[in-house]
Amino acid sequence: MGDGGQRRRWEYCWVVLNFSLLLCLGEKVSAQIRYSIPEEVKEGSVVGNVAKDLGLDVSTLVERRFRIVSGSKDALFHVNQNNGVLYVHKNIDREVLCDGNNACLINLKFVVENPLEIHYVSVEITDINDHSPVFPEKDQHLEMPENTFPGARFELQTARDVDVGLNSIHSYKLGQNAHFELQLIDSGEGDKIPFFILQKPLDREQNTKHMLLLAALDGGNPPKSGTLNITVTVLDVNDNRPICTQDEYSVTLPENALIGTIVIRVNATDADDGQNGVVEYTLGRTIKRKIHEIFELDHVTGEIQVKGQVDFEENEVYRLNVQASDKGQPPTSVDCRVIIKIGDANDNQPDIDVTSLSNTVSEDSKPGTVISLISVTDKDSGINGKVIGSISEDIPFELKPSFQENVYSIVTKGRLDRELVSHYDITITATDCGQPPLSTFKTLSVQISDVNDNSPEFSPKHIELYLAENNVPGASIFYVSASDKDLNENAAISYHIVREGTQIDMASFLNINSDNGDISALKSFDFEILKTFQFQVVATDSGTPLLSLP
Ligand SMILES: *[C@@H]1O[C@H](CO)[C@@H](O)[C@H](O)[C@H]1NC(C)=O
Ligand SMILES: *[C@@H]1O[C@H](CO)[C@@H](O)[C@H](O)[C@H]1NC(C)=O
Repeated sequence: MGDGGQRRRWEYCWVVLNFSLLLCLGEKVSAQIRYSIPEEVKEGSVVGNVAKDLGLDVSTLVERRFRIVSGSKDALFHVNQNNGVLYVHKNIDREVLCDGNNACLINLKFVVENPLEIHYVSVEITDINDHSPVFPEKDQHLEMPENTFPGARFELQTARDVDVGLNSIHSYKLGQNAHFELQLIDSGEGDKIPFFILQKPLDREQNTKHMLLLAALDGGNPPKSGTLNITVTVLDVNDNRPICTQDEYSVTLPENALIGTIVIRVNATDADDGQNGVVEYTLGRTIKRKIHEIFELDHVTGEIQVKGQVDFEENEVYRLNVQASDKGQPPTSVDCRVIIKIGDANDNQPDIDVTSLSNTVSEDSKPGTVISLISVTDKDSGINGKVIGSISEDIPFELKPSFQENVYSIVTKGRLDRELVSHYDITITATDCGQPPLSTFKTLSVQISDVNDNSPEFSPKHIELYLAENNVPGASIFYVSASDKDLNENAAISYHIVREGTQIDMASFLNINSDNGDISALKSFDFEILKTFQFQVVATDSGTPLLSLP
């Protein structure tokens, strides 16, 4: 009690002495008593017996009008005048009452009258773990180019926990993942900022998005936590070249294909995104000009179309390089090889080539005499290109195959007779085996040359003539004429009269012009002496051998 009284006096003196100071400093005075209660305690909870602790006589409190005069802060506390106990009157939320991390103190000013005493009491509101860590937003989006180097750092949201001390943010935890590690860096203001550190290279073509969960934990017991959903979008880099879907595109195109026919479609794919993955097709620069005239490439679709005349006989196979490039900056590209084989159509007639020809053939040629060599060819290939030759049936010639394919000889088949047919037109037909077959004709003109195979002939062979007697000697009395079917020398006729040595040869009195057969008598005949006589005229041609007939 003595102690209490001394303290009371001292306090009183202190109060009086400092009265002017109090006015100046307001509530900032040292409290005589300090209580401590946790926040959120039940209404009616006892803070302490203020009167007792101040050493006041509890029985006089009513009479001396013991009360709180200030600092009750909307009457958070209430004091009982009957016993001097300080109660919690309202729910106390430390975080509402005291923003920040400093100790949360509520100063109460008590008064008793007669004599007047002023006492200062402070109540410390201690923190309980009644808040969880909270991130400013529920999720965070990060974008990283796929070529970001490992080691790169990305700042994450910092969580807040309005509780203090151990009840505030204590640690962060990152969900299991292959690419990122968490690093905490001191902000310089007492808290730590979480960062992502990239651990291994990203690949957009494998994984476009990474979803991660970051948890912030406080140090309470038990701890409370808050989470942040982090989405990492991997941005594309042009790190893939286009790839042809086939090593080589091969197709057979029939010749004479219509313009506009789609030959083949080249397809290259690129795993990259956006323009980096858009493929454009061009014909390689090394391509022969002719190809540009025959084929057209669609830059967008990679389709190759027929644009000009496709001719097997001109070119059997075309090799194209199609360059597929993406539209990245810079672009990457690949060459796709295309082979277009041209299928042969039976669009060519066979050719007949006469390699040797005798324009004339002797009528006495033996059967089998070769008069001409011909070859038949066809530009088309395969069974198409196979050719069969033939010649007209009704002539004394035939076509004989030789040991060489497609080479034939034309030979005589039967007897020739110039006097019957002096000239032949031999028609050769060459037909290929295509569908439908195509044919070519060629006509050879052959003259039959003469041999001396006909004798001169008189017609009629016997002539009776009457001659008047007393004819004038030397005058023409008659003429004979023979014919010969042969030609030229073989038909050039001379005449003479046959003389027979023994009997009285009347022929010796006759003369014949060997060229024209004109007969003249050398003497004058007398009917009374010679009434009739016979003679023979022979006609001879000039051929070899000489042929003659009386
Ligand atoms: C966060 O991610 C979890 C699972 O990863 C999911 O269940 C939840 O809906 C996500 N929350 C938000 C806000 O996206
Ligand atoms: C190209 O090839 C890819 C991969 O094989 C395929 O998915 C796509 O459909 C093809 N495009 C065309 C137009 O055929």
